[in-house]
Amino acid sequence: MADKTFQLNTGQSIPAIGLGTWQSPAGAVKAAVSLALQSGYKLIDAAYCYGNEDEVGAGLAEAFAAGVKREDIFVVTKVWATYTTRVQLGLEKSLKSLGLDYVDLLLVHWPLLMNPEGNDDKFPKLPDGSRDIIHSHNHVDTWKQMEEVLKTGKAKAIGVSNYSKRYLEQLLPHATVVPAVNQIENHPALPQQEIVDLCNEKGIHIMAYSPLGSTGGPLFTAEPIVKIAEKHGVKPSAVLLSYHIPRGSTVLAKSVTPERIKENLNLVDLDEEDQKLLREYSDKLAAEKKLQRFVYPPFGVDFGFPDKS
Ligand SMILES: NC(=O)c1ccc[n+]([C@@H]2O[C@H](COP(=O)([O-])OP(=O)(O)OC[C@H]3O[C@@H](n4cnc5c(N)ncnc54)[C@H](OP(=O)(O)O)[C@@H]3O)[C@@H](O)[C@H]2O)c1
Repeated sequence: MADKTFQLNTGQSIPAIGLGTWQSPAGAVKAAVSLALQSGYKLIDAAYCYGNEDEVGAGLAEAFAAGVKREDIFVVTKVWATYTTRVQLGLEKSLKSLGLDYVDLLLVHWPLLMNPEGNDDKFPKLPDGSRDIIHSHNHVDTWKQMEEVLKTGKAKAIGVSNYSKRYLEQLLPHATVVPAVNQIENHPALPQQEIVDLCNEKGIHIMAYSPLGSTGGPLFTAEPIVKIAEKHGVKPSAVLLSYHIPRGSTVLAKSVTPERIKENLNLVDLDEEDQKLLREYSDKLAAEKKLQRFVYPPFGVDFGFPDKS
């Protein structure tokens, strides 16, 4: 299962599982990336905003020195919100840190603009402490820049992240290039089925982030997860990661712990009964208005997610 791939609308193949690097501290992420690539991971998910791309790059370099080939792996980075009017510059900065000539996929990290001339490169704030956001910015203009950057060959594919159905419906009529990917928070406690369905219909591949519920893995004790894990004789983490494969999505698992990095590659085949149980769990949470979104930065912007709008 670790070798499983999906196909993007560009024709490229994308691995079914990748290593996440958000909140992976300097001093640990180099080793995590290097170990992952030498243990069979083929996809590394990075971002300028994570502030650790130099170390991710050092991990890539270590893996290349150990025999991993650049053309055999899939590297993702993202244009941060202070660079959404300067996409080319954002990509160049990431490429420099990563030590690469190109990334396989470049994503718009969030569909908004934070003041590029504000008081901080990544998180500019107004005097009252709130985030310095340029509300007049149209996210479609960022996509037009993404399309130009694609022509340079420095990103082999372009996509979006944190796009709701509403935002995709605003974007698609103006897109010359249909996004290859929408990277969104996704797990049984936040299936975001309306976005997944629209993406499937339009040929946009889903990359699922925070599959374990992010920091500390808060979904490990959910009843159906435990039950399915017991049935297959695996840990709850394996069930949560495997959930995405029959959905046709790529899953990103973050860890800087060597044993976990390796064990997270051990996906299991969830049968129809397991998938039904997980769907029922999601439906119950939705009906009770208890869906859980673990990652929602305080931008103060309505991105069109039904649980937040
Ligand atoms: N596009 C976006 O806006 C966005 C947002 C969030 C995340 N992402 C991407 O998606 C990746 C994954 O999401 P995430 O980092 O939020 O969270 P996650 O992968 O759901 O969970 C990571 C947490 O689970 C722990 N963990 C990992 N494997 C485990 C295992 N087998 N057993 C027990 N605990 C385990 C990790 O601990 P240790 O590291 O200490 O082992 C860490 O605390 C990110 O790293 C990032 O690349 C993208």
